[in-house]
Amino acid sequence: MSALLRSTVLAAARSPRLERAITRLPVSRAVVARFVAGTSTTQVLRACESLLRSQCFVSIDYLGEDTTDPAGADATVAQYLALIAALGALPQAEVAAGAVRPLEVSVKLSALGQAMPGAGHAIAREHARQICAAAEAAGIWVTVDAEDHTTTDSTLSIVRELRADYPWLGAVLQAYLRRTEDDCRAMAGPGSRIRLCKGAYDEPESVAFRDKAEVDASYLRCLGVLTAGAGYPMIASHDPAVIAAAGVGVQAAQRKTEEYEYQMLYGIRADEQRRLAVAGNHVRVYVPFGDQWYGYFVRRLAERPANLGFFLRALVGN
Ligand code: FDA
Repeated sequence: MSALLRSTVLAAARSPRLERAITRLPVSRAVVARFVAGTSTTQVLRACESLLRSQCFVSIDYLGEDTTDPAGADATVAQYLALIAALGALPQAEVAAGAVRPLEVSVKLSALGQAMPGAGHAIAREHARQICAAAEAAGIWVTVDAEDHTTTDSTLSIVRELRADYPWLGAVLQAYLRRTEDDCRAMAGPGSRIRLCKGAYDEPESVAFRDKAEVDASYLRCLGVLTAGAGYPMIASHDPAVIAAAGVGVQAAQRKTEEYEYQMLYGIRADEQRRLAVAGNHVRVYVPFGDQWYGYFVRRLAERPANLGFFLRALVGN
């Protein structure tokens, strides 16, 4: 997809007017269902049970972002606590201390109040702490998603702080950010769990590589740092070149199967997810659910012209 078209589609992700229009279209829900596993906890658990049966692990995301009212942030925490309680009742929550946890939730700090003026950083940190405490008791991992670059310092500092009590807490790093190779070096220490992705927001040239070849090259450099490090790399990509390079890298670093994992998004390259899992790899599928699917959905459209074309054809009824 051209950089201009990608920027235009990503600008739509931040437009409340377009959000109102698109979320009301009945056809949107049918297309969204390819990427989002329903609106309720019951629906997402059903999708997860099917993935767990096919030997994949899961990371569940309750959709929502950029919450600036306290009630909205509290409601998101309540949803996560209910989700964690339901996950804790699954047999996969029974894991030995220190072992890889098949069940995980992914959290966006902006949904927990990070963008609230004044105390947003501290509010998001305390909300995330509540979620981590519940997850620890239930045998579930938590990973903090990466959002636009203006949040990166705040997000990584919250992760660092919470890791003092919850050393298994994961973070996402985006290879398109120029800073990320350094962040990988700083965060590749023992016990750290880093989910490396390319990055899905529309970032300025001053902070991010905008050329696809540069992003791909940065991803491979960052992956090299993480696989050579002492942490647990989470290779979040659907890109065949990345998956092939990761396979070579983990072998060269003599990592065992339980010392890294592949990750992909729900509804994207499901055959490849199964192929990797059946071949004996750890594969985790990121499974989003909830009503507030608009921003997530538009970012998926921006990643691939075919998705945008499919959506536009559905709109005009072809
Ligand atoms: P790339 O975009 O180069 O795609 C490679 C191939 O994958 C494509 O040719 C196509 O076959 C397939 N593909 C990719 N995207 C597709 C799509 N939408 N639909 C259909 N096929 C597609 N980003 C972020 O900024 N913050 C975050 O916290 C996260 N979290 C996250 C978690 C997990 C588990 C994953 C896999 C990804 C994210 N991302 C993310 C998204 C990530 O930054 C990136 O935008 C997408 O993964 C697409 O990049 P790829 O590495 O897949 O490669």
